Amino acid sequence: MSQLVSIDTSEGVRTIRWNRPEKKNALLREMYSAAAEAIETGEDDRDVRVFVLGGTPGLFTAGNDLIDFMEAPPHIGGSGDMPPVERFMRALMSAKKPIIAEVDGLAIGIGTTLLMHCDLAYASDNAAFKTPFVDLALAPEFASSLFFPARLGRSAASDLLMLGSTWDAARAKEAGLIVDVFPSENLSAEVRKRALILAAKSPGAVRTAKELMQAPEESAEQRMRREGALFADMLSSPEFAEAVTAFMERRAPDFSKFG
Ligand code: COA
Repeated sequence: MSQLVSIDTSEGVRTIRWNRPEKKNALLREMYSAAAEAIETGEDDRDVRVFVLGGTPGLFTAGNDLIDFMEAPPHIGGSGDMPPVERFMRALMSAKKPIIAEVDGLAIGIGTTLLMHCDLAYASDNAAFKTPFVDLALAPEFASSLFFPARLGRSAASDLLMLGSTWDAARAKEAGLIVDVFPSENLSAEVRKRALILAAKSPGAVRTAKELMQAPEESAEQRMRREGALFADMLSSPEFAEAVTAFMERRAPDFSKFG
């Protein structure tokens, strides 16, 4: 396991942190592999309910290590061995458990791209978001040319992806790239609080909500029917029974025995 990524699992939350501050947490292949493995194994581990992805104090990531990039240019979706960055992004994009991004400081390149594939993102008041692909004479990555316009609107997406503007936390929140902003010293605690709340919820219901939001586009009619079928099934689930029993007994529900 790489020393450049720290992984901690406690109280249902697996926290994965980039840990290469001397290089501004620029991401190496071994770091992507370690983070991918942490997500892949966490997906199969009942004790992991939620992932948090962060960096070191005051620093999320300066993006892909540029030297590593040149030494081993990744061919995404190509034949042959999957590049570690692709393995990591695929793990992130296909995770069924929720992933929360904790952005303290710089989030450059893939550090901003990956936010589109997290369920929730929080940032510190000194966060800075930038996707300088055009400045580097490169193309957008990991479907960001699809997700950015869809989520942020075409103009805001162009501001990031073409103009290469740097967004502060307030701009990122206004655009919907992140949910909320906290003082840097409080960010980890605020994220942890929310991760623990999610970890205590019905895992089946959290998974279903995420799956629906990740599902391909369909008509409102098709979606309503899909939700309706799930809703009906879940009304007879033991997790719903626990939620209702807890309500009747005026106690907090205990979903710990459900996977
Ligand atoms: N790849 C490789 N090394 C990187 C890096 C990256 N993406 N980002 C920073 N580093 C290294 C620097 O080379 C430097 O190494 P050194 O101390 O051995 O010289 C060290 O990290 C500190 O960076 P430095 O540039 O001195 O810090 P800074 O505070 O002046 O600037 C950044 C920080 C992040 C703004 C600046 O380093 C930068 O622009 N990095 C490149 C970002 C980028 O283009 N990412 C790729 C997107 S696809």
